[in-house]
Amino acid sequence: MAKSNMDQDILKVLVTEDEIHARIRELGDQLYDRFHDKNPMFVGVLSGCFIFMADLVRAAQLKSEVEFIGLSSYKNATKSSGCVQITRDLQRDISGRDIIVVEDILDSGNTLAFLKDYMLAKGAKSITIVTLLDKPARREKAITADLSGFVVPDEFVVGYGLDYCQQYRNMLYIGVLKPEVYSK
Ligand code: XMP
Ligand code: MG
Repeated sequence: MAKSNMDQDILKVLVTEDEIHARIRELGDQLYDRFHDKNPMFVGVLSGCFIFMADLVRAAQLKSEVEFIGLSSYKNATKSSGCVQITRDLQRDISGRDIIVVEDILDSGNTLAFLKDYMLAKGAKSITIVTLLDKPARREKAITADLSGFVVPDEFVVGYGLDYCQQYRNMLYIGVLKPEVYSK
């Protein structure tokens, strides 16, 4: 494995680098099948999406646009506050557009429920939700992903874009942090 001084903080690996890349190829093929005759706009939810988004748009190989929205509901805690804030708004008009939302993890559902309503109010023609991870155990809103990479257990996960206090986003795999890291 490549060098990393982050591994020492990880209790267990949930999804390996190879598993992530293989699954993203499958998700890319599925998006191609659904959207090759459309001109969709990918909308990534910052900041957690940034690595998944980069790999997914290249796996899909669709003629498409790439856009981002910044949403926050966590404020460095490991549980959703339930109150979603826009930290960086969409810069382009999405009315009449087929939108592919790219999210790192669907957890309580508060973030994606908010975003779906927000984009429908802005006139999106269709909204397809793609999430790398799905953690159904803590769902508070009745929302499902159209495509999801992996179902994960009710543990706080980091890596491949997901952070704890803005760290671990650049880890190559998805893992669970050691409890002592939280209590530091
Ligand atoms: P909700 O609860 O609104 O969560 O569905 C969506 C956002 O919360 C972040 N999130 C996590 N980040 N490990 C993380 O690093 C987790 O286990 C986790 N659960 C939720 C994430 O940014 C997601 O966009
Ligand atoms: Mg996120």
